[in-house]
Amino acid sequence: MRVGFVGWRGMVGSVLMQRMREENDFAVIDEPVFFTTSNVGGAAPAIGKDVPALKDARDIDALKQMDAIVTCQGGDYTSEVFPKLRAAGWQGYWIDAASTLRMDDEAIIILDPVNLNVIRDGLSRGVKNYVGGNCTVSLMLMALGGLFQNDLVEWTTSMTYQAASGAGAQNMRELIAGMGAINAQVADKLADPASAILDIDRGVADFLRSDAFPSQHFGVPLAGSLIPWIDKDLGNGQSKEEWKGGVETNKILGRSANPIPVDGLCVRVGAMRCHSQALTIKLKKDVPLDEIEAMLAAANPWAKVVPNTREDSMRDLTPVTVTGTLTVPVGRLRKLSMGNDYLSAFTVGDQLLWGAAEPLRRMLRILIE
Ligand code: HSE
Repeated sequence: MRVGFVGWRGMVGSVLMQRMREENDFAVIDEPVFFTTSNVGGAAPAIGKDVPALKDARDIDALKQMDAIVTCQGGDYTSEVFPKLRAAGWQGYWIDAASTLRMDDEAIIILDPVNLNVIRDGLSRGVKNYVGGNCTVSLMLMALGGLFQNDLVEWTTSMTYQAASGAGAQNMRELIAGMGAINAQVADKLADPASAILDIDRGVADFLRSDAFPSQHFGVPLAGSLIPWIDKDLGNGQSKEEWKGGVETNKILGRSANPIPVDGLCVRVGAMRCHSQALTIKLKKDVPLDEIEAMLAAANPWAKVVPNTREDSMRDLTPVTVTGTLTVPVGRLRKLSMGNDYLSAFTVGDQLLWGAAEPLRRMLRILIE
């Protein structure tokens, strides 16, 4: 198989390359070919075998030579190049991290630990477009897969705590810059144990509200604050990120015709690259907690049930613990006081791994094996 890679140098692309090296994926790809939008003829990345110099990511004839193309280049690139490539008669597999084609009828949303059946069905029907899901949705389904598999969810709300990385690399930098700037603003007072905390607080608040605070990318401060809106305003009170929760979950599960209501509020917080979510799940029936825990743990090798204690939650259910790993812990599991068919859950996952890069490399494996 000849596989083209586009957008491998950006943040998601770099995580994809890292994971593909770790899993030795390039060993099973006959001919990896790397494309670029800015450095045609430059050297391809080191992947342990000889590969040609970088090709032009807008050269339709060059792209047409590929059996599959994996792109992390972003939605604008997909909008520009994909229609031209198909119009030119290309029949290969398009594997994409961007959301552009996700809800297209001719595309499958890929999250194979949850919907391998949907993917295999698509392959047998000749579907050629495979798109990674929204990070929050994918991480929610990795954590709660067991409840969906057992058709126990009547509806669910997901209240999110989303990391800076979901907004992009520049936003991660801005978060850290903001944290440092806050500290620098009050460092003298902080170093003085006799200083009054309310003076420090006032200094921080004034600084956060001032033009001097770095907020160019987020638009408002994230460090020392939060942002209760993610992605576009759909004009009906819902953000696009919130809309994705419902439509993508049901598409991934292959039940868009018979959807489970999934909705909630999406909030940006000052975490680096792990999205967290607090869920209220209305179960179709009263299932004992130990059975629920067993279902969640058995659903896939990455979901990990965290006992609902203070100590376990604080140790195992945080962005700091999870970052850079494929584990998707799910905890804070208990029946809410509304009744025995109301379950709470809290889950954390690395949005660059299961939320972005990992489903793409696994789709390549499915195609090759
Ligand atoms: N839309 C997500 C976010 C990231 O802003 O966190 C990618 O799915």
